[in-house]
Amino acid sequence: MSLRALLRPDLDDLEEYVPVKPLDVLAAEIGVPVERLVKLDANENLYGPHPAVLEAIARAPFHIYPDPGQQRLRAAIASYVDVEPDQVVAGTGADDLIDLLIRLVSPPAVVIPTPTFGMYRFLARIMRARPLEIPRRPNFDLDVVAIERAVHESGARIIFLTHPNNPTGNPLNSAELEALLRLPALIVVDEAYIEFGGESVVPRIAEFPNLVVLRTFSKWAGLAGLRVGYSISTSELAAHLMAIKQPYNVNVAAEAAAIAAIEHRAEIGETIAAIVAERERLRAGLAALGWLTPLPSVANFLLCAVTGRSARDAAASLRSGGILVRYYDRPDLQNCIRVSVGRPADTDALLAALKEL
Ligand SMILES: Cc1ncc(COP(=O)(O)O)c(C=O)c1O
Repeated sequence: MSLRALLRPDLDDLEEYVPVKPLDVLAAEIGVPVERLVKLDANENLYGPHPAVLEAIARAPFHIYPDPGQQRLRAAIASYVDVEPDQVVAGTGADDLIDLLIRLVSPPAVVIPTPTFGMYRFLARIMRARPLEIPRRPNFDLDVVAIERAVHESGARIIFLTHPNNPTGNPLNSAELEALLRLPALIVVDEAYIEFGGESVVPRIAEFPNLVVLRTFSKWAGLAGLRVGYSISTSELAAHLMAIKQPYNVNVAAEAAAIAAIEHRAEIGETIAAIVAERERLRAGLAALGWLTPLPSVANFLLCAVTGRSARDAAASLRSGGILVRYYDRPDLQNCIRVSVGRPADTDALLAALKEL
């Protein structure tokens, strides 16, 4: 019997989601010690977690299953975002919520304005929803008319908007959102980077029950490796998400860490402020090189157009010196690199290496 005959043929041509590699694997591949890596490729918070988070994890009751109702975690997130606990659903990263939303709606198609975060397309394909990728305008604003047309023509019932957008760094503008909220579709606004800039759209949920906001602890709180994110929506939609999620999706260490991060948000806010200030120093340093044009960004990364040389080669040269950045060279994003904003020493190392290229 052929195993292949049992499997879904429509996944044969699934484009692999290219995840970032763990630090030790990268260090071994490049041949530098882990401590020498300057990891500016995944928009993580290089200040790492707050010490209180580490203490909370050490005290977490690992021998007990987590609370499927997520009561303490939902209450803590609700106080952080200023909504009601029954509007919050936590998951193993914002990625889990993207997956749950597509499962809940099971739409024939989803609309994805590109370039953007690759997970929407990947998870839509796995769930048999056709990803309709609508190119953004040259300044990376949304093409609202094309999105409206795509929704009407395809019956897409989810639109993924990223605010600020990854990898371009620009915020969603309110006129675009206003128009799209009137469509017969769930409007998912992914605010993974909102702590670094941009105004949250959460208050609009009261007027528009088709609006869902996604957030994460991966970026601002430095908890990417623990996998904890959440959605904010009407309590009605949240109840549907709670009903279909894996009961124990958020593990006890992640739950304890997220609650501790919220308790210490004021101190973590200081590292966020440092990253935002560093973003502008990094921008000036990159622009001064002459061959990189950093785009305006309200997130913890800068997308730079590369002129007169290859972005791929530049990223490869940086990598051989232990500095990791993302490069893009594809029809919707030609010859660009994206660098995360780290600590001042990370900026210094990156700028010094770029000057050497
Ligand atoms: C726009 C966006 N949304 C979501 C995520 C993933 O968040 P999480 O780590 O919570 O799954 C990322 C990570 O890079 C992202 O860029």
